Amino acid sequence: MKRLEGKTALVTGAARGIGLEIAMAFAAEGAAVAVADLSQQDCAAAAAEIAGKTGAKAIGLGLDVSKEADCERAIEETIAAFGKVDILVNNAGITRDGLVLRMKEADFDAVMDVNLKGAFLMAKAAAKPMLKARAGRIINISSVVGQSGQAGQANYSASKAGLIGLTKSLAREFAPRQVLVNAVAPGFIRTRMTEGLKDEAKTKIYEMIPLGRMGEPGEVAKAALFLAGDDSAYITGQVLAVNGGLYM
Ligand SMILES: NC(=O)c1ccc[n+]([C@@H]2O[C@H](COP(=O)([O-])OP(=O)(O)OC[C@H]3O[C@@H](n4cnc5c(N)ncnc54)[C@H](O)[C@@H]3O)[C@@H](O)[C@H]2O)c1
Repeated sequence: MKRLEGKTALVTGAARGIGLEIAMAFAAEGAAVAVADLSQQDCAAAAAEIAGKTGAKAIGLGLDVSKEADCERAIEETIAAFGKVDILVNNAGITRDGLVLRMKEADFDAVMDVNLKGAFLMAKAAAKPMLKARAGRIINISSVVGQSGQAGQANYSASKAGLIGLTKSLAREFAPRQVLVNAVAPGFIRTRMTEGLKDEAKTKIYEMIPLGRMGEPGEVAKAALFLAGDDSAYITGQVLAVNGGLYM
């Protein structure tokens, strides 16, 4: 039996990168998936790719996670399509890097709005049906830099550290209704977000990582799959690091 047979999942930021890999992994394990991202067209294309490769049901939902009405509508549309929402993955994220003295207020706000407020809004919208069903999983994609800090990423690191606080608070609030909330903290993963790094920077990064390489999006997806399925039934409020040992 597939690990997520009969389950439904909504993954934000799922048109590409880690989010797409998570949605694909869930679908391969039998879940019906809602692919939510900024562009409706990209979501529809990703959903078609997932359905074609796995045979699972998949829909595309255009949304901006920083807008409350969009988040509420996405949950409603998922329930309209699949009857329920069992799993939410808050994966949508952006960077606006810069040293603090040069960082604009707008760059700080934009990153907070998407990475932290977006996860709060999505969790709030998903919590209503999950608490009623007395079951559910919420998985927040944080980052190693939310744990370690990072020069040039004060906004991003703060948003990702904030996600860990949000995860633990939601876990405490929702535990009485069996809604489990955990975070995954990836290290350096090979996606468009890290593609732009110069070779010199990459060599320095590899030297810092005990396993000596970047991670693959599929390796993050496997951690999310574990937290979404029955094997993690006694785990809530935790941060699962997928970082090759970069931060311990
Ligand atoms: N790549 C890494 O090394 C790495 C490391 C640690 C954490 N992460 C986190 O993993 C997640 C996915 O990263 P990725 O590398 O796949 O990045 P990516 O840029 O390839 O994908 C992010 C997706 O989020 C979407 N998105 C952005 N703003 C949005 C909004 N307002 N509403 C809805 N969707 C929005 C984008 O359109 C994009 O499809 C992010 O939260 C990122 O911070 C990535």
